[in-house]
Amino acid sequence: MKSIKVSSPSNIALIKYWGKRDEKLNLPLNSSVSITLGEEMSVISELKFYEGKGNDRIVVNGRELEETEVGDYAGRVMNKIRELYGNVFLEAVSYTNFPVGAGLASSAAGIAGIVVGANEALHLNLSKREMSILSRIGSGSACRSVFGGIVIWYRGNSGEGSDSYCEQLFPPEHWPLKVIVGIVKESRKPISSRNAMLRVNTSQLLHCRLKTIEDDVMKLVETIKSRDKANFYRIVMKHSNNMHAVILDSWPPVLYLNEISFEIMQWVLENGDMAYTFDAGPNPYIICESDSVNKVVNFLSNIGAKPIVTGVGSGPKILE
Ligand code: DP6
Repeated sequence: MKSIKVSSPSNIALIKYWGKRDEKLNLPLNSSVSITLGEEMSVISELKFYEGKGNDRIVVNGRELEETEVGDYAGRVMNKIRELYGNVFLEAVSYTNFPVGAGLASSAAGIAGIVVGANEALHLNLSKREMSILSRIGSGSACRSVFGGIVIWYRGNSGEGSDSYCEQLFPPEHWPLKVIVGIVKESRKPISSRNAMLRVNTSQLLHCRLKTIEDDVMKLVETIKSRDKANFYRIVMKHSNNMHAVILDSWPPVLYLNEISFEIMQWVLENGDMAYTFDAGPNPYIICESDSVNKVVNFLSNIGAKPIVTGVGSGPKILE
C-alpha cells in the first residue's frame, strides 16, 4: 500500500468551459482560462493506493460517494492509471473547506489531487501536461487545477485529446488578484454541470458564442498580461453572462442564478473596479485587487452571503 496526502485547489473559470465535442474524454467545444484558487478553496485528500484488484472508494466530508459517482469521475482517472501501472485501487478520504456540490468545483479539485498524488505515490513520472490530460478525463475543469496561477486549457482538435491540455499562463505573482467567493446557498445544484452541458446543442446562441470565443480568450490573456483592469473585468463579466445566457437558451433551461446572484451582479456593476463571475450555481466569485476586499466582504456579509476570501493560488501540493 502506498499512501500520500495532497492539497489541491479549486479553480474559477474566467472564460468558461461549456459543451463538449467528446463526452467520454471531456474534450471541450472551446478553450478556457481560469484562476487557480488558494488554500482557502482547496481539498485535502488522504490517498491510499492498494496493489491488486478492488473497488475505488472515496469519502468526501464524511460521505462515501456512490459507485456511479466514483465511476463517472475519479474512476475514469483510476482506469487510466491502471492502464499505466497495472492493478491498483484507491481509497480516498477528502475534506473540503467549502460546500460540495454547490457549483464550487469540488470535483475539479479532488480529481486533480488524485492525479497529482498518484503520480507521486506510484512513480508514474507524468509531466504536468500529461497530468492535466489525465485529470481532464475525470472532469473537464479538473485539468486546470493541476497548475497554479492563471491557466489556459486549450480546446485542441484531435479526436484522442492529446492536444487538449493546460498550461500556466502567468504565475500567481504576476497579478495577485483577490477572489471573494460568496456562499449564498449551500444546497446542491439543481442539475450537475455535466448533465446540463449535454443540452448545449439546443441553444442557438451557442453558435454565436463559439464564433468569437477563441479570439476572446486571446483578448483576455492580453488584458492579464498588461494588467488592464477595466478590460479584464469587462471580459470576465461578459463571459459569465454569456455562459448563463447559453444555459438559459438551452432546453430545458437551467436556472443556476437566483435573486441574490442578480443583486450581487448589480452591486458589482455599480461599484466598478471589480468583476463577478458565476459557475454552475448561484454563488458569486468577485475578483478585485486587495484594496477592494473589505468593501466586498462587508457587502456580502450584509446580504447574508458568507464570504471566503482567497486569491491566485500556487497549485496542488504534496503534504506528506
Ligand atoms: C460551469 O468540469 O464539472 O464550472 O467535464 O462534465 O466533469 P465535466 O464538467 P465540469 O464543468 C464545469 C463547468 C463550469 C465552467 C468551467 O469551470 O469552465
